[in-house]
Amino acid sequence: MKRLWLATVAGVSPLLLAVAFIGFRQAPAGSSYSGAAEVDSQSQPIRFPHDTHAGQFTIPCQYCHFSAERSVDAGIPPVAVCAGCHAPGKVEGRTEEARAEIVRLREYFPDDPALGEGGAPGTPIPWKRIYKVRDHVKFPHMRHVAAGVTCQTCHGQVQEMGVLEEMAPEAGDLRMGWCVSCHLERGASRDCTVCHY
Ligand code: HEC
Ligand code: HEC
Ligand code: HEC
Ligand code: HEC
Ligand code: HEC
Repeated sequence: MKRLWLATVAGVSPLLLAVAFIGFRQAPAGSSYSGAAEVDSQSQPIRFPHDTHAGQFTIPCQYCHFSAERSVDAGIPPVAVCAGCHAPGKVEGRTEEARAEIVRLREYFPDDPALGEGGAPGTPIPWKRIYKVRDHVKFPHMRHVAAGVTCQTCHGQVQEMGVLEEMAPEAGDLRMGWCVSCHLERGASRDCTVCHY
């Protein structure tokens, strides 16, 4: 993959070669994640397990990330989506930990008893964002979904992951070489202007 990428830039410009080397930078300093008990401002505010929801209970990815097939952003579900299952009297949790976490989750729900049903939106949960391209790069989810590239190709086996804290290795740190190698492999455009503003 790396070789393909270098071959692509080598013919283009020395500036780009420099870019390729900047690309091999160190992993961010905050990646010393040390386990479940650790809770700090760098951790997710609610311990939302993808494996329970998307794996064990097979809720489809796009039930929650419902804009992935029609817009640039896959989107993070509003708290009303959670309330649909976790309102009091519905899914309460099987273990002590699960019940405690669901009680914490409900602090974000709207006060309105018609929880999320077209009424009050509740308080947005301040999730820690994990996947983010630079501001000068455009990444349209819908084009990739339409071309049949699965979520797992880029995000890994999310349905087997617990709480998400960092990018999967499949995402190649979202570097330009990662994007361009796949575009080369799959015959997608490598025009600078399709990805850059
Ligand atoms: C029940 C709802 C739900 C389902 C089902 C679900 N997700 Fe998520 N997903 C979330 C929430 C909430 C977040 C934000 C918290 C977090 O990062 O874990 C999230 C975050 C993510 C992120 C990280 C976003 C970022 O950059 O911060 C990815 C990638 C993702 N989901 C992919 C998937 C994939 C792939 C599937 C299917 C295998 C899936 N999700 C199924 C609710 C869901
Ligand atoms: C379609 C139904 C459904 C939706 C929507 C849903 N959940 Fe769940 N959730 C479940 C089920 C089922 C469990 C497993 C409960 C159990 O342990 O008995 C669960 C468990 C949990 C737990 C407990 C942790 C654990 O290990 O089991 C948390 C926290 C949680 N959900 C958060 C969320 C959040 C946040 C959202 C919204 C982004 C959400 N859920 C949306 C069905 C749902
Ligand atoms: C070709 C690779 C690729 C595929 C396929 C892909 N994603 Fe992403 N995903 C990304 C990139 C790159 C970002 C960062 C985008 C940005 O910063 O604008 C991202 C960001 C996200 C986020 C963060 C919030 C957002 O809206 O940007 C979520 C959630 C997410 N993806 C879920 C999914 C789901 C669910 C699928 C499958 C339906 C999917 N992705 C398919 C590469 C991919
Ligand atoms: C795993 C393969 C893969 C990866 C990784 C990937 N893409 Fe793509 N991309 C595709 C495919 C396939 C298409 C669809 C081409 C089509 O519609 O004909 C596409 C289409 C696009 C388009 C629309 C192109 C056009 O002709 O209008 C943009 C923009 C884009 N990708 C940006 C990105 C960016 C930015 C990244 C990296 C952050 C990325 N892609 C990573 C496979 C990938
Ligand atoms: C398929 C998508 C894609 C295409 C095509 C593409 N780029 Fe990029 N480019 C990216 C991504 C993603 C990054 C961000 C890399 C990072 O953050 O490490 C990037 C970064 C860059 C940077 C570095 C800016 C910085 O933040 O350091 C330059 C310069 C650049 N691209 C120029 C180009 C030129 C010139 C072309 C055409 C020959 C091109 N790109 C084609 C996706 C693309």
